Amino acid sequence: MSAESLYPVQPEVAAHTLTDEATYKALYQQSVVNPDGFWREQAERIDWIKPFTRVKQTSFDDHHVDIKWFADGTLNVSANCLDRHLEERGDQAAIIWEGDDPSEHKVITYRDLHEQVSKFANALRGQDVHRGDVVTIYMPMIPEAAVAMLACARVGAIHSVVFGGFSPEALAGRIIDCNSKLVITADEALRGGKRIPLKANVDQALTHPETRSIQNVIVVKRTGGEINWYPHRDLAYDDLMRVAGSVCAPKEMGAEEPLFILYTSGSTGKPKGVLHTTAGYLVFVALTHEKVFDYRPGEVFWCTADVGWVTGHSYILYGPLANGATTLMYEGVPNYPDVTRVAKIIDKHKVNILYTAPTAIRAMMAQGKAAVEGADGSSLRLLGSVGEPINPQAWHWYYETVGQSRCPIVDTWWQTETGGILISPLPGATALKPGSATRPFFGVVPGIVDNQGNLLEGVAEGNLVILDSWPGQMRSIYRDHDRFVDTYFKAYRGMYFTGDGARRDEDGYYWITGRVDDVLNISGHRMGTAEIESAMVAHPKVAEAAAVGVPHDLKGQGIYVYVSLNTGEHSSEELSQELKQWVRHEIGPIAVPEVIQFAASLPKTRSGKIMRRILRKIATGDYESLGDISTLADPSVVQDLIETHRDLH
Ligand code: WTA
Repeated sequence: MSAESLYPVQPEVAAHTLTDEATYKALYQQSVVNPDGFWREQAERIDWIKPFTRVKQTSFDDHHVDIKWFADGTLNVSANCLDRHLEERGDQAAIIWEGDDPSEHKVITYRDLHEQVSKFANALRGQDVHRGDVVTIYMPMIPEAAVAMLACARVGAIHSVVFGGFSPEALAGRIIDCNSKLVITADEALRGGKRIPLKANVDQALTHPETRSIQNVIVVKRTGGEINWYPHRDLAYDDLMRVAGSVCAPKEMGAEEPLFILYTSGSTGKPKGVLHTTAGYLVFVALTHEKVFDYRPGEVFWCTADVGWVTGHSYILYGPLANGATTLMYEGVPNYPDVTRVAKIIDKHKVNILYTAPTAIRAMMAQGKAAVEGADGSSLRLLGSVGEPINPQAWHWYYETVGQSRCPIVDTWWQTETGGILISPLPGATALKPGSATRPFFGVVPGIVDNQGNLLEGVAEGNLVILDSWPGQMRSIYRDHDRFVDTYFKAYRGMYFTGDGARRDEDGYYWITGRVDDVLNISGHRMGTAEIESAMVAHPKVAEAAAVGVPHDLKGQGIYVYVSLNTGEHSSEELSQELKQWVRHEIGPIAVPEVIQFAASLPKTRSGKIMRRILRKIATGDYESLGDISTLADPSVVQDLIETHRDLH
């Protein structure tokens, strides 16, 4: 490690931090030696209705994976995010909402938000939504999305937020899997000046016969655009709110009762309904939000994620609000109307902490200094990154151009499954190395194993595992505990397998090297190759498909799909376009392949397994190091693939 690329904690940062190096070391040690004691104390940061007596009851044994934290305590998440702040900061902004159009913004105080959530919770009860019912939320980035989530938590319903960029097909799948009772949506979403027909998408999803569990659709008016209305089923949000009472007692929930389901992609099969529960999740996101971002009361925190992803759940909503913070919610995209938008929002709302993704950073960086042209940026104190490995070039640009070489960057590694941040610098404690997520958070014990599952000591590279439970960990896959165990605990027995590769350096710092399974990361969005392939083969002309990731300057990874057609079908540019449209329709715009390469056949082993290793190499034009191809059923397909690839590029 060369000296230039080490950024020691700056004296100004060290002077004001909540956690300096000595504190980190001592607390980390305590947290792993005596997790019960550590987490018992940390759990005091939230309000309990009935205090817990048990802290950690967890087993990673693959015959009996069972994860419980604070199990006999009771609480309500919405009361923790709202009611308890009213006395001290009722008039403080809870949410600053910035519209897609730069002329629009709103400030919602804790008192306002509490009232709206209480009313909407009453409206939900009026529609017979109660503890344990599942509610699907398919919304734009508007305050009503936060209201809907918190209102579910208030009545004990389980929310399942589906990203507004998913297609009707994908939405239907996510409704069917969890048998949800109600959909909350908006007429249209507005992103980058474009309208997205959310209500029409819901209408289409609900034509699917298996979505009959849905009793009602609640529609928020966002754009006022024209929509179809089905009076037996559709309800206007405004009508419900007009008549709803503003007093709503929060439901007393058990610590281990579900809070939400969030679908995410794995390497095989359909998206998984990742299940998070109440107390452990809340304690963990509140603590990580405070410590990782060194959050201080009164500061404005801006996480640019969408609430449709876990980052939005944990660090737009639950972490910040549990801490009584001011959270900024932005409806649009970072480069609309132009590349200066992020800097303008920072100045307009005096943002202190910016938490975004490498893909957004690279998009700004592509325009040089234009992104900060005319901006002041002096309110910023800290920067964060999440979603994919940040390349050192983007790190340096972010640090120097956005952070004016004064703001530390916390490169936070975590997953939908982990609920909150597991590996990250703490700004006042950790010297930074561009590209490294650095060290584990309190209570987190990472390990690196080789492919046989042997734990490696010291400097090492291999598969990233976590050796013991932390409170924010997912508890199960909704209604499929066996799949949970198979996916995360069978690869390396007794350990949670992350699906990521990592290297540990001589300072004990972790460097995430990316997924080691068949999960792609497109602009920080997770996409399973199996999902793309099954969408492809659903097309009547397609016989077989194999998707792989290729490096992409802005997106991190792009999707490259090999397609073989049914006998009698012919490849053409038109068909290639048609297939891209097809994937857009089946999954959504984020899954549209960069390249479709037609192939007479795909390279398979004699047992019929597609050899992706070879496909990955060919997709990047690396024909020389294909490795051993003698195990292929028909080695000659490789030459055909190479020739077609050459013609395409
Ligand atoms: C990747 C997003 C490197 C990783 C919170 C992980 C990262 C997947 C980082 C989870 C990071 C996330 N450095 N890689 N700082 N953060 N990843 O479930 O591959 O959408 O497994 O959760 O993103 O994506 P997910």
